Amino acid sequence: MDGVNDTKTALVTGANKGIGLAIARGLGSIGFTVAVGARDEKNREKAVEELRAAGVDAFGVALDVTSEDSVAAAAKGLDRLNVLVNNAGIGGKLDGGAQDPTTLDLDVLRTVLDTNVFGVVRVTNAMLPLLREAESPRIVNVSSNMGSLKLRTGPVLAAYAPSKTMLNSITVQYARVLADTNVIINAS
Ligand SMILES: NC(=O)c1ccc[n+]([C@@H]2O[C@H](COP(=O)([O-])OP(=O)(O)OC[C@H]3O[C@@H](n4cnc5c(N)ncnc54)[C@H](OP(=O)(O)O)[C@@H]3O)[C@@H](O)[C@H]2O)c1
Repeated sequence: MDGVNDTKTALVTGANKGIGLAIARGLGSIGFTVAVGARDEKNREKAVEELRAAGVDAFGVALDVTSEDSVAAAAKGLDRLNVLVNNAGIGGKLDGGAQDPTTLDLDVLRTVLDTNVFGVVRVTNAMLPLLREAESPRIVNVSSNMGSLKLRTGPVLAAYAPSKTMLNSITVQYARVLADTNVIINAS
């Protein structure tokens, strides 16, 4: 039970723009209080203002998914969490054949994995204690059809595409471990 205030809270990572901001707006429109996770303070506050102007009950959460300290502080600052949307993601550098597999820049691969995969693990594991206490907790990992081994769609991006393949795979690992709990996790 949530007690006095029964509003459900959703945290969206990378919610200051793009798909994350749209997800935040959508969750707000169906009654969620939205925690706007974003690393840049100015952009975060701008998004919070924009969401509030659209009638969303929103507040900002400083969150860089590549930083253990930032993620831990974000989790500490929340008193409840019903939904986690792991949206923050990067495509990674392309210049100089950086994402051609035959000339793959391993630093680019590391950087992309650090955000798109390790970032999701960092945030998910930090937020799980709060989620486990919630009613009907949900985790959504924002993937891409470029991560599909079957479709082989989109441009050749040998850091980004495999990062989403790994994200899909790790989501399945979470789903197996959480199968006996009330936490439902999906990649979309
Ligand atoms: N656009 C597409 O066609 C498409 C298709 C399939 C899947 N996706 C996935 O959808 C998600 C959102 O994509 P988008 O198109 O909306 O991209 P976007 O406009 O570039 O937005 C990405 C968001 O992630 C944030 N972010 C990046 N690194 C971060 C970090 N270390 N900590 C916290 N936030 C971080 C960005 O923050 P800053 O503003 O501070 O950089 C931004 O808010 C990504 O996971 C992407 O892979 C996109």
